[in-house]
Amino acid sequence: MEIDGINLLFDPFITPNPLAKEIKIDNIKADYILITHGHEDHVADAVTIAQQTGAKIISNFEIVNWFQTKGIDNGHPMNLGGSWNFEFGTVKCVNAVHSSVMPDGVYGGNPMGFVIETNSFCFYHAGDTALTYDMKIIGENHELDFAFLPLGDNFTMGPSDALLASDYIGCDNIIGMHYDTFDYIKINHQITLESFKKQGKTLTLPVVGNGFNPLI
Ligand code: NI
Repeated sequence: MEIDGINLLFDPFITPNPLAKEIKIDNIKADYILITHGHEDHVADAVTIAQQTGAKIISNFEIVNWFQTKGIDNGHPMNLGGSWNFEFGTVKCVNAVHSSVMPDGVYGGNPMGFVIETNSFCFYHAGDTALTYDMKIIGENHELDFAFLPLGDNFTMGPSDALLASDYIGCDNIIGMHYDTFDYIKINHQITLESFKKQGKTLTLPVVGNGFNPLI
C-alpha cells in the first residue's frame, strides 16, 4: 500500500505462494514491512525484500529480534497496546487471537493486528485472528475507512465471523484476506460476497497482482 509516496508492505508471502507465481519479488517496493505474526505464510519473503529495499521492519519485539539474527538491523519493535508515530502515520498494535512462531521454531511473541491512522484515512489490518470482542474497542476509538479482515476459516475466522467483526469495528468497507491460498481456506466467493451485500457492506476479494483502491 502506498501512503503519500511511502510504500507499506504487510506480511509478504510470495515465493512459496501458488497464487502469486506471477509476482517477482525483485520488483516489490517497500519502505516499511509490517509483520503481524511469525508464521511462514506471513514472513516468507520478508528477509529478502528487506535486504533488497532497506525497508524497516515493524513488528513485535520478538519478531524484530529474530530479523536481527538474520542480518536485518533496520527494525522498530512494538507490542500490544503500543502506538508510534511514523512518517506515514500512527501505528497502533491491537490484539489478534491466533498463535505466532517463526519458521525455524523460535518464539514469535504475540500475534497482532495494526490500526493505522494517516493524514487522509484510517484503517485496520487484522492479521490472522479469530473474532473477538476486543474488536469493539477498535470500533469505539477509531473511525475506520476500511479494514483488512481474514475470512478463510479453519486457521482464522470465517466469512460469518468476519461479517460480525465488521459490525464490532464499525466499518462497512472490508477487504478479505487469508483465503483460497490453501485447500483448508478455500471460500465460496459468491456466497461470501452476497452475505456482506445483504447487510449493506462492501466486501472486496482482491486477486493477486491486481491493484485496487480501498477508498472507493
Ligand atoms: Ni498464521
